[in-house]
Amino acid sequence: MTEVTAPDVRHVIGRIARGLMARGGEGVENVIYRLSEQPLKDENFKAPEPATKPVVKHLDATLAAARTLDAELSDALKVLAPALHWEQSASYTDALLGAGFSDNYAWAELIGPKGFFAGNDYLIGVLLLGPHRHYLDHYHPAPELYWPLTEPSDWRKGDDQPFVTRRQGDVIWHPSLVTHATITHERPLLAVYVWTRNVSVGARLCAAMKG
Ligand SMILES: [Fe+2]
Repeated sequence: MTEVTAPDVRHVIGRIARGLMARGGEGVENVIYRLSEQPLKDENFKAPEPATKPVVKHLDATLAAARTLDAELSDALKVLAPALHWEQSASYTDALLGAGFSDNYAWAELIGPKGFFAGNDYLIGVLLLGPHRHYLDHYHPAPELYWPLTEPSDWRKGDDQPFVTRRQGDVIWHPSLVTHATITHERPLLAVYVWTRNVSVGARLCAAMKG
């Protein structure tokens, strides 16, 4: 296996930044400004221990689907694939999120404590969600941007708001502490996510609060 290098990761991050700036939308300036403050020099690079999860079986198919949005980004992400450290939030159990959820969900940081650059109160990574999943209402202090690389998926922002179908390349912004949820259908979802600050407090499921 060829080792993943700092330029490989910066290539992906730069491609994401370029795609978001070209698209524009709520939150993009915040994401780009905070990205400009991140230490991404060679000396800041430290590859994580690779780790996989069952949902990673969907990575190749989602990367292939992502090529219609940005082939260069998809190919650059594929270079990183063997080196990614896939994780799950410990509080996300099948009891809360439905049987099989933990086999259909994981995220991998590019910038963040578990990523290739530790970052400065900032996370950027990719989320994989398998088919026919409902990532229930949750919230967190961090303002968050999602950028789906595949389609379609349905997204809700705000308590009791309707789900809206989002396409590949749409920019989705969740202000701090606003409740949000995601539904997938036949196709698995690959999305870029960014937390722009206040990253030390994790997400809380509303279902967990109800006991
Ligand atoms: Fe979130």
